[in-house]
Amino acid sequence: MIGRVRVRLARVFQGLAIAVRTLAIMRILVTGASGQLGSYLAHELLRAGKSELILWSRGTTGSRSGLEIRAVDLTDGSALTSALEEANPDLVIHAAAISAADQVRTAPERGWAVNVEGTRRLAAWCGDRGRRLIFTSTDVVFDGARSWYREDDETGPVLAYGRTKAAAEPLVLQIPGGLVARISLLYGPSRAGRASFFDRALASLRAGEPQVFFEDEFRTPLDYATAARTLIRLAENQAGGMVHVAGRERVSRYELMQRAARVLELDPDLVRANRRQDARLAEPRPADVSLDTSRLASLLPDLDRPSIETALWMLTT
Ligand SMILES: NC(=O)c1ccc[n+]([C@@H]2O[C@H](COP(=O)([O-])OP(=O)(O)OC[C@H]3O[C@@H](n4cnc5c(N)ncnc54)[C@H](OP(=O)(O)O)[C@@H]3O)[C@@H](O)[C@H]2O)c1
Repeated sequence: MIGRVRVRLARVFQGLAIAVRTLAIMRILVTGASGQLGSYLAHELLRAGKSELILWSRGTTGSRSGLEIRAVDLTDGSALTSALEEANPDLVIHAAAISAADQVRTAPERGWAVNVEGTRRLAAWCGDRGRRLIFTSTDVVFDGARSWYREDDETGPVLAYGRTKAAAEPLVLQIPGGLVARISLLYGPSRAGRASFFDRALASLRAGEPQVFFEDEFRTPLDYATAARTLIRLAENQAGGMVHVAGRERVSRYELMQRAARVLELDPDLVRANRRQDARLAEPRPADVSLDTSRLASLLPDLDRPSIETALWMLTT
């Protein structure tokens, strides 16, 4: 009994220590900084100018927003620990992953090693040192059989990628400074120096090539810049536990790309609809993983989440 109380008190004090430290200027480590979201995070953190930034990737080097990226492979346990000791971050925003569902399906051991075991190592280090960890999870931890999932709804991933993310979430939730941000489909122009699905689709539309998108698969998409800003605001807010980070609107990829085509003055007739049953899918895909974001709205009541049209207009002009 006394032992349990001591453990609880230790956790409370550790939580308070984390809160005090994050009010001051922080050292922030972004994993996956060469990726789509990581590049936006680096950009937005530098713009906010409040922190000392450390950027990591697996192998991509070069600079993001003027800062050098260091290659640190999350699957190499001893290299990771010494890099963490050297970097000594107050906060880790963990955006590194094998994020392409197809890559996890075809190389599941690698997907597990990065998405689960890599996260386990980061969580263990942050937990031991009393540091904060924000983990970027995904809406596809849900089975998609209904709409507007809440944070405490049961997960049931149908994609191998979703299974790795669902397995990693509790590893982060169990440490005092852990926050799991379940993110919906992200869209917008790439800052990563390599094309996102969105860039590729737009390039084809610009070239006058028709593109097909599912009209029967629903998400609550959010643009990269707003997603990055939201994660930074959550870091400042000291939020813990689980929070859904997504847009306000539930749309199919077909509707998203039609609206994008209109804003960007491309021919919306080139955006064509198909259904999941028309495609030969290697894995079943969840039909509707729209996320309820009431908790996000209550944590950050003044957070601006622009419509698809406004977000694209801001990102492309
Ligand atoms: N994009 C979306 O629509 C979306 C939606 C929901 C959730 N998310 C989540 O958000 C996060 C970022 O996604 P993203 O689309 O930006 O991913 P991404 O563009 O595929 O970038 C992945 C990043 O992870 C790094 N990485 C891969 N394997 C690694 C390893 N073994 N060790 C260290 N770093 C490694 C990559 O480094 P290299 O460049 O060197 O390979 C890259 O920086 C992920 O956790 C993803 O699951 C994304």
